[in-house]
Amino acid sequence: MKRIAIFASGSGSNTEHIAEYFSKGNLAKVEAIYCNNPKAYVIQRASRLNIPLVLFDREKFYAGDMVLRDLQLRKTDLIVLAGFLWLIPGNILRAYSDRIVNIHPALLPAYGGKGMYGMAVHEAVIQSGETESGITIHLIDEVYDKGKILLQEKCPVLPGDTPESLAEKVHRLEYEHFPKVIEKILE
Ligand code: GAR
Repeated sequence: MKRIAIFASGSGSNTEHIAEYFSKGNLAKVEAIYCNNPKAYVIQRASRLNIPLVLFDREKFYAGDMVLRDLQLRKTDLIVLAGFLWLIPGNILRAYSDRIVNIHPALLPAYGGKGMYGMAVHEAVIQSGETESGITIHLIDEVYDKGKILLQEKCPVLPGDTPESLAEKVHRLEYEHFPKVIEKILE
């Protein structure tokens, strides 16, 4: 059984979908959820799903190797970033090179980079008058949002769309494809 660690900073709806997807098979399980935000709704999901939660602050994440040690203690095979807001520090990047996968709610390289997170991405896409958006699932390397792309899926942006309605379409794509891409990597 492979072990997945999910990093999340917010609501955690992708986290929940991934956990449920793998709980139905015997390829992998979500071993722990790592969170930097004590107010994130993902914390409640973790307790409902009965998955251990590791909460850390900036200092613990960047100054020491507490998070890396925890990942290694749990024999983590793959790190999944599902709406995680902070850059991954060098010690974790080096230890898990090619084993960190991220989902981005737009078609990279457009609408990526600093500050491009969640609703800010959908607002920027709508403001620029794009006619399509979508998701990008990619590996993480030292330059954020620039690792090898594993999958992109598109959805239309229609004239009446708002950031909220676009977010909904993008989330639907995420729930459908993210667990399957993770499964492929682990196989
Ligand atoms: C997702 O849409 C994900 O693509 C995005 O945050 C959302 C988290 O939703 N990630 C980024 O913007 C990364 N730059 P969730 O907490 O409900 O899974």
